[in-house]
Amino acid sequence: MKGLILSGGKGTRLYPLTYTNAKQLIPVANKPVLVRVIESIRDAGVDEIGIVIGQTGPQIQEVIGDGSKYGVKLTYIPQESPDGLAHAVKISKPFLGEDRFVMFLGDNVIQGGIGQLISDFAHSDWNSQIVLKEVENPRSYGVAKLRGDGSIEQLIEKPKDPPSNLALVGIYMFDPNIWQAVSSIKPSARGELEITDAIQWLIDAGKQVYPHVHKGWWIDTGKPTDMLEANSLVLEELIPNIAPDAIIENSQIDRRVTVEHGAKIINSVVRGPTIIGEDTVIENSYIGPFTSIYHHVTVQNCEIERSIILEHSSLSDLGVRMQDSLVGRHATVHRNDEKPRALKMNIGDHSNLWVV
Ligand code: DAU
Repeated sequence: MKGLILSGGKGTRLYPLTYTNAKQLIPVANKPVLVRVIESIRDAGVDEIGIVIGQTGPQIQEVIGDGSKYGVKLTYIPQESPDGLAHAVKISKPFLGEDRFVMFLGDNVIQGGIGQLISDFAHSDWNSQIVLKEVENPRSYGVAKLRGDGSIEQLIEKPKDPPSNLALVGIYMFDPNIWQAVSSIKPSARGELEITDAIQWLIDAGKQVYPHVHKGWWIDTGKPTDMLEANSLVLEELIPNIAPDAIIENSQIDRRVTVEHGAKIINSVVRGPTIIGEDTVIENSYIGPFTSIYHHVTVQNCEIERSIILEHSSLSDLGVRMQDSLVGRHATVHRNDEKPRALKMNIGDHSNLWVV
């Protein structure tokens, strides 16, 4: 079996962070979502993986490389424009050939790995397996309508009037019947070749598509609030670890805190679950639960809770607690004590700022 990860697309809902960075590279608990996806596929026993890349391909290739550091062999598959998930599958045929494969969307985070799902599919005669999850907002996803016997009657992409609350999770398994499906469907009203239409084609052609209903949590990290939610859920499951060379002075560190290599925590309180990244310095600060501070960040005289701070940023003397926030790379957030006292901003397009 082979693996296929979709990491093209634009990530517009995560602007401004995704103006300069691929959304799949934004870290959750200090590890890019895409690395989590690669590791889940590898841990399920699949080590030959294709990654569909778009405009942000060069950044992805720079960070992920040839896959050897994750113990997998990667093949990059450039997609000229984001013409839909089924289009991404279609252009991957030279890589996938006649193998059965698992496809994982590069921005999805799921609890519990995919080992059992892959083993179920490998030992079945199903032509495809999809994963469903009950959600509160089915309009944002592909949605499945099941028959009384549990089989799939219909799949609809982002329906205005959802027939159920069962969303399609971004993990799919296919056999070579998918090739005829992706060649037979037409672009949807939004101009994309939809994977939901390709799977509907399989169902209508009498192929066996098995719907697995996932019980654990699942997050599609499309929006900033989803990133914070995924970050909290992953942090809760992280096994805490304090790197031997981390320096902790005159500080209270909760037992659910991870401190990475070379980090310094001085005169501070850190409550878990939280992770402090490599060579990051926390001084005279309170870092509250559900916070991930990535590498080479400086935090002085601040209180931060339930936030993600990306690499090489610097925060100081905020004077008010920061929470539910996402701070991008190389960003600075400081107090302005100069006269006249006023907010000074230099924020990017599509940024959001909530002032108290
Ligand atoms: O996350 C689950 C949902 O993912 C499903 O419920 C939907 O049925 C499915 O269409 C998809 O919806 P999204 O709106 O979340 O898809 P998005 O455009 O965010 O793309 C998902 C991933 O696939 C993302 O990593 C970018 C990548 N992609 C997307 C497109 C449209 C590609 O590589 N190529 C593409 O052409």
